[in-house]
Amino acid sequence: MTRILFYLKDFPIEPWRNALVAEDASLEFRMYPDWGEPSDGPAYAVVWEPEPGLLKKFTNLKAVFSLGAGVDHLLSDPDLPEIPIIRMGDDGLKEGMAEYILMSVLMHHRQMVPIASQQRNAKWRRVISKSANKVRVGIMGYGALGKKAAEILRPIGYEIAAWSRRQKGAEEGIKHFTGPDAINAFLRRTDILVCLLPDTDETNKLLNHERLALLPKGASVINAGRGSLIDIQALIAHLDSDHLSGATLDVVPEEPLPADAPLWHHEKVIITPHVAAITRTDTGAAYIIRNIKTIDAGGEPENKLDRNHGY
Ligand code: NAP
Ligand code: GLV
Repeated sequence: MTRILFYLKDFPIEPWRNALVAEDASLEFRMYPDWGEPSDGPAYAVVWEPEPGLLKKFTNLKAVFSLGAGVDHLLSDPDLPEIPIIRMGDDGLKEGMAEYILMSVLMHHRQMVPIASQQRNAKWRRVISKSANKVRVGIMGYGALGKKAAEILRPIGYEIAAWSRRQKGAEEGIKHFTGPDAINAFLRRTDILVCLLPDTDETNKLLNHERLALLPKGASVINAGRGSLIDIQALIAHLDSDHLSGATLDVVPEEPLPADAPLWHHEKVIITPHVAAITRTDTGAAYIIRNIKTIDAGGEPENKLDRNHGY
């Protein structure tokens, strides 16, 4: 029988319990803090932002599932046990992110940020937007989520490029840029920058003042990866100087964004409270149970954290 030790705050638990039991009627679902004794039999932890040190105490854990694709909430635990960490990668998560990216790219392409600002000031000023095939979208981070975002954007007609760490094979309709040597050329050709990178030592403040300056005048930025990527003061400076036309930020360096942060009131910024893609219980539960079965059968789970690269 599978035992799941579940940890999630600020979201309803029942839908998760029901979805997991629907996938495996025999499983024992234990919600934190009712995890039993640390020395109890084998179990899988399924967690989001667990207290540091908690996982290490449960010495019979076979693996830890992150309830999201990001693992920064686990890697920040100095006592994270040396067992497999599995990142979420189910279809529901990818689809949720693709919906958010499609919405945000269209908002910037069709100039909804200045139009909404005009409305607040009862201003009727007609704007002309370029056709999609003249808009260059650049996706930073072409993993599970970046690929799905490209898939949903392509039929609109955008000119799409992607930047990632490792070389990718040729793909119709996507121009690939690889590694640090290609980042400047990638940014220079990008009108709408879509950021879907993990939080790692390499990505921290990668988008600083100098790199944001490489984007063409009037470009916009969408960040749905992690807030550590962008130097927010540099972003504000580029928005204020009219070098950049707008930004949509689902993630910010400090979450929740403090109530007195000027970013809340910036006319060119849309803030969403880290909701771009919240793991959906049905596809998420199926993904977790499928991978537990794989591990129990001695196989290799999907989307295992590569600790050397931090994602
Ligand atoms: P993934 O499949 O692991 O993809 C990560 C991508 O980032 C890969 O393309 C990888 O390149 C690239 N990358 C990593 N480090 C890089 C570097 N130093 N230079 C260039 N490229 C680099 O992850 P995912 O499932 O797409 O998720 C991406 C991130 O989205 C997560 O880590 C999480 O932080 C964030 N997220 C946010 C939300 C939200 O609601 N806002 C929801 C889910 C996830 P390679 O392809 O070459 O390996
Ligand atoms: C959400 O931020 C995730 O990492 O899935």
